Amino acid sequence: MPVTTHQLIQWKQQQRPIVALTAWNYAIAQLLDNAGVDLILVGDSMAVVLGYKNTLPVSLSEMIHHAKAVRRGVSRALIVVDLPFLTYQESVKQAMHSAGRVLKETGAQAVKLEGGYPAMVETVSRLVQAGIPVMGHLGLTPQSIHQLGLRQQGKTELDAQRILTEAIALQQAGAFSIVLEHIPPDLALQITQKLSIPTIGIGAGKHCDGQILVTSDVLGLSERQPPFAKVYTNLRQTITKAVEEYAAEVREKKFPES
Ligand code: KIV
Repeated sequence: MPVTTHQLIQWKQQQRPIVALTAWNYAIAQLLDNAGVDLILVGDSMAVVLGYKNTLPVSLSEMIHHAKAVRRGVSRALIVVDLPFLTYQESVKQAMHSAGRVLKETGAQAVKLEGGYPAMVETVSRLVQAGIPVMGHLGLTPQSIHQLGLRQQGKTELDAQRILTEAIALQQAGAFSIVLEHIPPDLALQITQKLSIPTIGIGAGKHCDGQILVTSDVLGLSERQPPFAKVYTNLRQTITKAVEEYAAEVREKKFPES
């Protein structure tokens, strides 16, 4: 059965952890889906495979192109697509146009956007009223890299209170879930307990309703990982070894054998 946004909320009620990862292409999306990942995010962290230094240059057309490929590889997981920088912050109209394109052209079921109260509350509310499921993203929001850097957020009492207020406002606006990135675990626990929608943590401790990581970090494909990522295998090493072996065999005329 395909995973729905309602299913995620039920899993929170049942305390059944939600498993989420990112995918940017058909092959990885298919592997994740077959392995039973519940939610696949076509994240703008895709910047790394496009050779960008951060997420700011990623365009809506690039997101749509990759999300279509992901869609073709997935039959069960819920697919959420990031709205990239400056494709939703200008106005509700702009957000509606961008999110509408994502749903119409890719077949994904939801969009994610960064930010909270007051900036994004009206936007989320209007998207949801138009039938577009929205996931929020609070704490470290990479599209604000030039304001926040990549530091942990919510460390002071004031900042923690602000993030909690934003989470409540996003839920009230109709978001079906919120990503909490790089905040102290006790703040993530407080938010998770306060909300009826699921929190999906990345660098936010074990008390969130689900966890997400960037798949290239998990697989050891990234040049650098954030401090909170766990590397489960080292594909950079595996790929380099395989390619070196192939190159050597071609040079030594061992491949092909005849
Ligand atoms: O773009 C992305 O991969 C994300 C995750 C870090 C949650 O937003």
